Amino acid sequence: MKIAIIGAGNLGLSIAKGLIVNNAFTTLYLTRRKAEDIADYEEYSKVTVTSDNLKAVQNSDILIFAVQPTQFERILDEIKDELTEKHVLISTVTGFKIPRMEAIVGEEQFIIRSMPNTAIAVGKSMTCLCSNEKGQKRIAIAEAIFNRLGTSIIIPENKMQAATVICASGIAFWMRLIRATTQGAVQLGFDAKDAHELSMQTCLGAASLLIESGKHPEEEIDKVTTPRGCTIEGLNEMEHNGLSSSLIKGIQASFKKINTISEQ
Ligand SMILES: NC(=O)c1ccc[n+]([C@@H]2O[C@H](COP(=O)([O-])OP(=O)(O)OC[C@H]3O[C@@H](n4cnc5c(N)ncnc54)[C@H](OP(=O)(O)O)[C@@H]3O)[C@@H](O)[C@H]2O)c1
Repeated sequence: MKIAIIGAGNLGLSIAKGLIVNNAFTTLYLTRRKAEDIADYEEYSKVTVTSDNLKAVQNSDILIFAVQPTQFERILDEIKDELTEKHVLISTVTGFKIPRMEAIVGEEQFIIRSMPNTAIAVGKSMTCLCSNEKGQKRIAIAEAIFNRLGTSIIIPENKMQAATVICASGIAFWMRLIRATTQGAVQLGFDAKDAHELSMQTCLGAASLLIESGKHPEEEIDKVTTPRGCTIEGLNEMEHNGLSSSLIKGIQASFKKINTISEQ
């Protein structure tokens, strides 16, 4: 695959690192205006760093756009005349809908939208994908790329906002839960470093149990809640104080907000 990442900033470079580690390209172009800031990537074989987006587009088939929403329209405008039927456009740009892309580059282009999260930096991103009608024929390419950087699923575009809340904002929600259990562990007598380790690893273990067994969370909860025991005592106290309810309400508030932002 001849890939270009247009906008090699935080996300673009995380994707680039994943592609480099997995040796997942024939050639890789990385662009940004201050190309000198990422010049060291040229040390990798088959990687070209440039500030010339047109050159990157001309020499690549898969174009991954990882620029800020305010920069995207101008960049699509800049490169649109270089697009041919070989190009697959994969956008990571938050909130920039497919019809808006089609209005600039045309409906006949293969267009895919992706919503990764920051865990892409460690190859553990939950990435949601959708495409225009034409792009359905090439969405497997995007799946192959993002499956090397975590896990991906295909969803309809009208669920992209909800996916942003659950997966992108979701990273912050889970971080706060890890912090809260760390604080609890410190109160039980662990020093901060050990408390943090216990909390993180238990979180990872819980998620891994579900991923590997395919079981429902309540099945795993049943295994650790002895009747009249300490786990059910703690769990019920958390629920009396609104644990599940506050998480669901927080998710709804986030969703309401993202819809307000997208209307602005
Ligand atoms: N970070 C995440 O985890 C995440 C997750 C999901 C979606 N997203 C979305 O991904 C996009 C990128 O996010 P980010 O955090 O990676 O932003 P970022 O760090 O600001 O990266 C954007 C990059 O685009 C480059 N750029 C700007 N204008 C350009 C141009 N004309 N040609 C080529 N490159 C140009 C900038 O470098 P120069 O200034 O040197 O040009 C910068 O390095 C955003 O739309 C964001 O909403 C991010």
